[in-house]
Amino acid sequence: MRGLPDEFEKLLISEDEIDAMVRRIAEEINEDYAEGGKYYTPGKKLVLVCILKGSVVFMGELMKRINLPVEIEFMRLKSYSGSSSTGTILPILDLDRADYSDCDLLIIEDIVDTGRTLHWTISHLKDDKHAHSVRTVTLLDKPSRRVEGLEDYEPDYYGTIIPNRFIVGYGLDADEAYRTLPYIAILKTAK
Ligand code: IMP
Ligand code: MG
Repeated sequence: MRGLPDEFEKLLISEDEIDAMVRRIAEEINEDYAEGGKYYTPGKKLVLVCILKGSVVFMGELMKRINLPVEIEFMRLKSYSGSSSTGTILPILDLDRADYSDCDLLIIEDIVDTGRTLHWTISHLKDDKHAHSVRTVTLLDKPSRRVEGLEDYEPDYYGTIIPNRFIVGYGLDADEAYRTLPYIAILKTAK
């Protein structure tokens, strides 16, 4: 990569580092959901649930490396505007079926920040969609930002823990910009 564009303070995670994390997470999933693995349940279908829009790049890269029979689904939740969480979750696109009791769902997230989005999604898939199981994968985790009540929440699979800074790239945006960057960078904050 040539010099980092001026609007970024620093490169946080390079393309190569992201690639290594994606491969490692895929290997863990492949082991855990294979016959004999700790999450394997006979007769249940593994479904990756991509949370749009931020997780689209991660989902695409991760799914190529899953070597088990798997299906994919998409959800879109609006929970964020600008660079501070509003705390409200609004489902804009939901899973089509009413009952997923024959499925092991794996939520694919770009980042867990306050934990509200993931917490809402887990409850929705368990309680309203009757999934056989719901587990979570996130590329990035900011555990220092968890809201009250979710302090101890940990995703089942994660790429890396990051500091409490606003980051963009690899699907993550700042007001819809920067999603197509192949790396993850810290955006300069207004002075
Ligand atoms: P949570 O509900 O607070 O955990 O926020 C989850 C959503 O906020 C993520 O799926 C992202 O879309 C967005 N988000 C949180 N932190 C960042 C960030 O640093 N950059 C870009 N988007 C973020
Ligand atoms: Mg997101």
